[in-house]
Amino acid sequence: MMSFQEELNAKVAQIEQVIGKFLPPEEGYQKVVLEAMNYSVLAGGKRLRPMLMKETYELFGGMGKEIEPFMAAIEMIHTYSLVHDDLPAMDDDEYRRGRKTTHVVYGEAFGILAGDALLNFAFETMLKAVPIHTDEPEHLRVEQLLGLAKAMEVMARKAGIYGMIGGQTADIEAEKMSEISKEQLLFIHENKTAALIQAAMMTGAILAGAGVGEVERIEKCAYNIGVAFQIQDDILDITGTMEDLGKPIGSDEKNGKQTYVTLNGLENSKLQVEKLSREAVEILESFAGDSGFLKKLIVSLIDRNK
Ligand code: IPE
Ligand code: IPE
Ligand code: MG
Ligand code: MG
Ligand code: MG
Repeated sequence: MMSFQEELNAKVAQIEQVIGKFLPPEEGYQKVVLEAMNYSVLAGGKRLRPMLMKETYELFGGMGKEIEPFMAAIEMIHTYSLVHDDLPAMDDDEYRRGRKTTHVVYGEAFGILAGDALLNFAFETMLKAVPIHTDEPEHLRVEQLLGLAKAMEVMARKAGIYGMIGGQTADIEAEKMSEISKEQLLFIHENKTAALIQAAMMTGAILAGAGVGEVERIEKCAYNIGVAFQIQDDILDITGTMEDLGKPIGSDEKNGKQTYVTLNGLENSKLQVEKLSREAVEILESFAGDSGFLKKLIVSLIDRNK
């Protein structure tokens, strides 16, 4: 039997293949922005969001190919958020995924444009799941089209002002404040990080045909995973190493950020990661399908070092 680590590696390799299929060729007068997009996406990373999407899709019995453009799209949106997060005007960081950040290699203008391009291309990619160019429109089932539209609505909303961008806004504003409330910090974590994890898992559920109530429980489960993930990210900004993380440590302190750790201390933060993760596992156990790997994945994130 494969170990969890072997299974994880195999799944990451499959995801990278899927992502690779949807990346643009580097040609034409806009070549530089295409290179910058591919540079940031192909740098690696844990591929957590497409993995959560695929696993949730399978949990609800999904077996089709329409999940693939969505897997590539969520990684494009996530990568764009990192490229912009690292810009001098935001966190001003020089390393990401073990490489120089996109703006350091290509210059700030192309860092901005590569981020814009990845966000737009994510939607172009998702739309590839919609059979627009068919001569036989009677083959398009209404439920199938509605599922694709619902999935895209969730991706758009959770990436936007009521999701990731909203969270990044509150995160940057909080830098100027001498103190922030726990409620404000939770808003930041829920939106800048949990929202895209919710988009990943909800999309997986929706495309597999899960019911409204099931999608709501997945949203809650992903909230827990996402907030725990950001608390652990705040912990690793202090206790991690650049070698493991592939990005600089001490970025939060450099930017005067208040984090879960500055507000609650290291020990409490670790306990909270554990608690939120256990609750996420409990929600998964309430579904009839096989969530074995997904549960192991969530538990493995509790004491991740990268
Ligand atoms: C980093 O995300 C940004 C946060 C939301 C904390 P990841 O830790 O998933 O980054 P990659 O994709 O593995 O590089
Ligand atoms: C970023 O949070 C979340 C995003 C939406 C990119 P951080 O600023 O803490 O992420 P890292 O530590 O740079 O990966
Ligand atoms: Mg940031
Ligand atoms: Mg950052
Ligand atoms: Mg961080």
